Amino acid sequence: MSIIFDEQSKVFHLQTSKTSYIIHLWRGKYLVHVYWGKKIKTPDISNAVVNRVGGFTPNTDNEDYSLDYMNQEYPTGLGTDYRVPAISVVYADGSRNAKLLYDGYKIMSGKPKLQGLPATYVESDEEADTLYITLSDKLKGLKVILMYTAFHNLDAITRTVKVINESNDNILLEKVLSASVDFETYDYDFIDFHGAWGKERFMERTPLRHGIQVIDSKRGSSSHQLNPFFIMASKDANEEYGEAYGFNLVYSGNFTGGIEVDCADKPRVWMGINEYDFSWKLEPGQEFQAPEVVMVYSGKGFGPMSRTYHKLYRTRLVRGKYRDEPRPILINNWEATYFDFDEDKIIGLAKAAKELGIELFVLDDGWFGKRNGDDCSLGDWYVNKEKLPNGITGLAKKINEIGLKFGLWIEPEMVSVDSDLYRTHPDWCIHVPDRVRTEARNQLILDLSRKEVCDYIVDTIGGILQESDISYIKWDMNRNMSEFGSAGLPADRQKEMPHRYMLGLYDVMERITSAYPDVLFEGCSGGGGRFDPGILYYMPQIWTSDDTDAMERLRIQYGTSMCYPVSAMGAHVSAIPNHQTGRVTSLKTRGDVAMSGNFGYELDLMKLTDEEKEEIKAQVKQYKELRTFVQAGDMYRLKSPFITTNNDGNDTAWMVISEDGTDIFAAYFRKSCIVNGGIYRMKFTALEPDSTYEIVGENMKYSGDELMEIGLIVDMWGDYTSRVWRLKKI
Ligand code: DGJ
Repeated sequence: MSIIFDEQSKVFHLQTSKTSYIIHLWRGKYLVHVYWGKKIKTPDISNAVVNRVGGFTPNTDNEDYSLDYMNQEYPTGLGTDYRVPAISVVYADGSRNAKLLYDGYKIMSGKPKLQGLPATYVESDEEADTLYITLSDKLKGLKVILMYTAFHNLDAITRTVKVINESNDNILLEKVLSASVDFETYDYDFIDFHGAWGKERFMERTPLRHGIQVIDSKRGSSSHQLNPFFIMASKDANEEYGEAYGFNLVYSGNFTGGIEVDCADKPRVWMGINEYDFSWKLEPGQEFQAPEVVMVYSGKGFGPMSRTYHKLYRTRLVRGKYRDEPRPILINNWEATYFDFDEDKIIGLAKAAKELGIELFVLDDGWFGKRNGDDCSLGDWYVNKEKLPNGITGLAKKINEIGLKFGLWIEPEMVSVDSDLYRTHPDWCIHVPDRVRTEARNQLILDLSRKEVCDYIVDTIGGILQESDISYIKWDMNRNMSEFGSAGLPADRQKEMPHRYMLGLYDVMERITSAYPDVLFEGCSGGGGRFDPGILYYMPQIWTSDDTDAMERLRIQYGTSMCYPVSAMGAHVSAIPNHQTGRVTSLKTRGDVAMSGNFGYELDLMKLTDEEKEEIKAQVKQYKELRTFVQAGDMYRLKSPFITTNNDGNDTAWMVISEDGTDIFAAYFRKSCIVNGGIYRMKFTALEPDSTYEIVGENMKYSGDELMEIGLIVDMWGDYTSRVWRLKKI
């Protein structure tokens, strides 16, 4: 068992391979958080609970302590703790004091599924244990079950919460966080991953300060702006050293994550659904399930923290056939043609792609309704016969005959105002009666909180998949919500819409992906606007960003890799000058950056010179040799593209090593060349010092210790340059 309860000391001890998480049952009533960090074999916590009172703060239950000074597991407000609460409710009589006291526990092997929500899983009960602690407000019939899972072989602990109404009246939930953890000192930094369209997940590090620091989304999706992931790290933490606490919400909608440092310098960390525009009417007997938070602790810096997330997500979040299979190299026509294509052009591209060794052709936006721009037809998922006279079925067949698999773009959650769907069902979009329906990219969002809308999507998308030989789907979503409202919900449930939308979306994704298990699904939201573990549960890869510029991608992919695995990151070689930045980089650099992710192309292959074709052929061949271990290996970040105290961000380097340590792919990138800028070396890591490694294709052999301690000279000339190495252990 990786979770034990010691009756004597009233201590719950959760253990992963290298970490401990300890909770104490205080005076039989309150759950006090004692510790989370490096593993402690047999904790004796008699000295660990701080029991204090302070001026002005009332003593809890008129006893000799105050919850305001205690580290808690699931704090409630409006009592004697004045910090950020994890839950807020309104009872039928208007009172709001939820007094949640301990009411029993249960420890089970394995990990249960979460009803209607994505979550990490186990394949056998031996992989993890789960602790359920029940808290009850008996006076009011409110029950809260805290659920913790400790994985045996990965240093990850997941938390979630279920709220049950055992009273005879409705209870209004105004806030239900998934986790709250109290720490004792604020000698830490807060690291967030912020951005915008085209610049997702830029890493930012600021010292903790007193008061509240929050990351969140109120946009109806997890967002480009702030990823539902943050790290609390010791001041000295880097890739290999120091403490890193990661928090990642398995959810694709409005979220909150943050830290409050209180007057006693103690940080309270939390994560969950955003209370902004949220409430949930819980009727007698009903339950509310919060999403899961994945919490990872590393005492050896960011590297091990990231690799824990990567392995957990690669193997126990992502599902289906492509979890364990190498992903095909694709060509997407978006940046090659935008909306301007017909069957001949597509066939021409596919033939060119085949000659280069590419395996999958993806037809992007513009194939349906009368869509020749972004101003119409979303929702009308029937083929545009003017562009594609043989339909999707005919086109897929021709592409298959060329020797490529066929993939298709869809944006099922959307409706254009100029569409048959909107003309037929004007109330099927998210809107507020008598208010302007604000369009973004000329489109509105279908109201997935409504069952009939979800069924419509499942039927139409299912129909397309049924009809044609489609091996891949790119599932896009191109705007944020506005006028949050649903015609399907009564007035007192309007604030349920954002979360009900997510439940509807997950239901639709589950129904479609499980009905077509051989189809590879790629998530997308104007690039990486919904790059979160919620989506990864249904779709093993996500288009990382619409910014395909190689230099910009270094920061985007580096930031994304702090939490998400290489296999999840769609990365394409595109044309120059780059369509987003106008920057000109070499085909080699573009290839080397994209090869560090889930590889593909997105440019007009018909315009390539013979020389470029040969180079692409070589890249495709190279990636085919690398992908099995690049997509499933351990990633080590060696140089950061972000400016930090000891780094100017000019050089970026990383490597991926296969799990068995025999295959290595390493890459080094430089933005601008500096004359006499010093000697640069690629210093490898995670090799065996006494083993010998061959540099494939260069007929050179070095010992592991030399590669790690002395390194290889990186001789680069010019701007935007790159070097990659393939190493093999002999
Ligand atoms: C946004 C996506 O991120 C792009 O890759 C492309 O699919 C367009 N949408 C199509 O409208």
